[in-house]
Amino acid sequence: MKLLITGGAGFIGSHVVRLFVTKYPEYQIYNLDALTYAGNLANLSDIEKAPNYTFIKGDITDAKFLVDMFTELSFDGVIHLAAESHVDRSITDPMSFVMTNVVGTVNLLNAAKDSWAAEGMAPNFEGKRFYHVSTDEVFGSLHNPEDFFTEETAYDPQSPYSASKAASDHFVRAYGNTYKLPVVLSNCSNNYGPNHFPEKLIPLMIHNIQTNKPLPIYGKGENVRDWLFVVDHARAIDAVFHKGKQGETYNIGGFNEWKNIDIVNLLCQIMDRKLGRPEGTSAQLITYVTDRAGHDLRYAIDAHKIMNNLGWQPSLQFEEGLEKTVDWFLTNQDWLNNVTSGAYQRYYQGMYTDR
Ligand code: NAD
Ligand code: DAU
Repeated sequence: MKLLITGGAGFIGSHVVRLFVTKYPEYQIYNLDALTYAGNLANLSDIEKAPNYTFIKGDITDAKFLVDMFTELSFDGVIHLAAESHVDRSITDPMSFVMTNVVGTVNLLNAAKDSWAAEGMAPNFEGKRFYHVSTDEVFGSLHNPEDFFTEETAYDPQSPYSASKAASDHFVRAYGNTYKLPVVLSNCSNNYGPNHFPEKLIPLMIHNIQTNKPLPIYGKGENVRDWLFVVDHARAIDAVFHKGKQGETYNIGGFNEWKNIDIVNLLCQIMDRKLGRPEGTSAQLITYVTDRAGHDLRYAIDAHKIMNNLGWQPSLQFEEGLEKTVDWFLTNQDWLNNVTSGAYQRYYQGMYTDR
C-alpha cells in the first residue's frame, strides 16, 4: 500500500503518520505538507529515518504539482488532513481557509480521481480509498443540553473555518456520488495532546501559566467543547481508513464535555502542583477578554456509530490525558521554545525545496 497522508507535519497529522509508519511497516507512507506556520518536522523526528517513510514538501493549492506527484507515485490511498485549522485566524484571514481547505481539497480530489482513472480503475476505483478528516464544527452550535451531533445532523457552519471545512466535506461527498470516487469521512471533536500548536486553548494556557502570562478566557468561559486525546483520534482514523464503509461518515469524540473555564482551572491546579507553586497561584492569571466573534456555544459528539460499527473507543480518561499532556510540554521545553520563538521555521528553511 502506497499511502499519501497530507498535513502530516501538523498536530494531528504527525500522530497519524507515526501510528501508520510504526504499525504498518509494509506500507509506504508519504507525508505531504507545505510546512506552514503549523507544520513542524520536529513533530516526527523519532520516525523521520524509518525506511517506509518519505516527506514531500508541497502545497495542495498547487493543482499541477499534485497531478505530477500522483502520476509519479501512484498512491493507493489518501488520508487528507492538511488544512488551515485555527478558528481565530479564519476570522482575520478567511481567504487562506478557502484556498487550502476548499480549493486544496478539490485539487486533491481531482488528482486522485484522474490518476486512478488513468490507471484504468474507473468507474469503481477498486482497491483505492480517499479519506477526508474533518471537524464537528461543520454542525454549528448546540443550544439544547440534551442534544449531540450525530452523523445525520444537518450542517450549519458558523465560522469561516467551519464553513470552509463544510464546503470541503460536501465536495468529497459530491465526488463520491458523481464520479464514484471511494470516499470516507470523519468529523471529530477538539483534540489535545503532545505537539499541539500553542495558539489553541490547552497548549496556550500551559505555556502562559509556565511563563506567568495572562490566561485569556473568551467571554464568560462557559463555551463547551468535547475533548479527545490526539492519539485516540489517530487510532480512530486508523479504524475508519481500514474498516469504514465506503461513502459513509463517522463522528469521533470522547463523550467528554468541558466548559473552557473549568479546563483552565484544572490546568492551573495541575501546573501549580507540577511547578511547586502554592495552590491558587496560577488561577490568578485568569483574565476574561472580549469574546471570539460568532463563538459557538457547545459542541458534543455522539460517537456511537464508530464505537458500535468499527469497535473503536477512547483509551484515556481526560484527567489522565491532561496530566500526560502537561508532562509532555514540561519535558519538551525545546519544542515549545522553538515554536514560540519561530526558530522551528528558520531551521527548516532551505532544507526542503518545493517540488
Ligand atoms: P494543524 O494546523 O496543526 O496542521 C495542519 C497541517 O497542514 C500543517 O502541518 C500545515 O503545514 C499543513 N498545511 C496547511 N496548509 C497546507 C497546504 N496548503 N498544503 C499542504 N499542507 C498544508 O491542524 P490539526 O489541528 O492537526 O488538524 C488536522 C486536520 O484535522 C484538519 O483538517 C482539521 O480541520 C481537522 N480537525 C482538527 C481538530 C483539532 O482539534 N485540532 C479536530 C477535528 C478535526
Ligand atoms: O471542534 C474541533 C475543532 O477544535 C477543530 O476543528 C479546530 O481545528 C480546532 O482548532 C478546535 O477549534 P476550537 O475553536 O474549539 O479550539 P480553540 O483551542 O481555538 O478554542 C477552544 C475553546 O477555547 C473555544 O471555545 C475558544 C476558547 N478559547 C480559545 C483560546 C485560543 C479561549 O477562551 N481563549 C483562548 O485564548
